[in-house]
Amino acid sequence: MFNVFAKTYKQLLEDELQTLIARLDAPPVIKEAMFYSLSAGGKRIRPLLLFATMEAFGTDPKRGLMAAAAIEMIHTYSLIHDDLPSMDNDDLRRGKPTNHKVFGDAIATLAGDALLTYSFEVMGNIPEEYTSPETKIKLIVEMAKAAGTEGMVGGQVADMYGEGKKITIEELEYIHIHKTGKILSFCVTAGALLSRAVPKQLNNLALFAHHLGLAFQIQDDILDIEGNEELIGKPVGSDRDNQKSTYPLLLSMAGAKNALAEHIQMAKYYLANTNLKTTMLNEITDLVATRDH
Ligand code: IPE
Ligand code: IPE
Ligand code: MG
Ligand code: MG
Ligand code: MG
Repeated sequence: MFNVFAKTYKQLLEDELQTLIARLDAPPVIKEAMFYSLSAGGKRIRPLLLFATMEAFGTDPKRGLMAAAAIEMIHTYSLIHDDLPSMDNDDLRRGKPTNHKVFGDAIATLAGDALLTYSFEVMGNIPEEYTSPETKIKLIVEMAKAAGTEGMVGGQVADMYGEGKKITIEELEYIHIHKTGKILSFCVTAGALLSRAVPKQLNNLALFAHHLGLAFQIQDDILDIEGNEELIGKPVGSDRDNQKSTYPLLLSMAGAKNALAEHIQMAKYYLANTNLKTTMLNEITDLVATRDH
């Protein structure tokens, strides 16, 4: 059931992204660079989280297509910049050479900037029949918070400053919650806002997403050691090469796997507390726990 759901909505998202880039009036190279990374074959876990949240409320997930496209643009921008020589300096992403390897550092930086700004335009253009102006403003503000200084950017800064240092598990948790968890959480919040969730549901969903986000990045750290480069589509051992602080480094591999299992259990606990139809969200949670890419 989840496979059909995922295939259907991933295809709709691919089409939406293609249309959104094609309609831009700009020098071809920037459109090419944006689309190169957008269409390189990401798992689309963030859009799927948004669609599955809407489905849990009985809302038509198609109403979330533009919000999902906006989120995938922000996420893709964060990956393009994360791979730059001045950051993680990686050559492979989504199974292809990284954006700067193909287009050079300047265009890669601008492609990231372009995806970031375009995401807000797209979010602002969600049709009125899908959401009220008040909710749209909330979506825009929450997306800015999740991606910005108090969200992903803050986490990326702490990640860079944690290189080559012995940090505490609390500091590492801050990094993971911010660099990865905040945008993942926003996907759930956005799906709930587009479905007119009540505060108690929003609260349980936020706690669900908090633990899911941590689990997601812990598994990312594990895959950086145990993963298969062909499957994950990015270099194995990047964290070690950059002397990053990671869960396996701080807690040992067994400790990291324990922490992952605990966060998955907590995520499922809060999900059950929502009293929603959570089949798809449960499947995504299982996927995060067991994913090999
Ligand atoms: C990678 O995200 C970066 C992290 C925040 C861990 P994903 O593992 O979702 O990457 P794609 O989108 O599938 O390429
Ligand atoms: C991802 O952290 C954080 C982002 C905001 C992109 P990583 O640096 O571990 O992500 P990967 O492993 O390169 O995808
Ligand atoms: Mg990084
Ligand atoms: Mg990286
Ligand atoms: Mg990583």
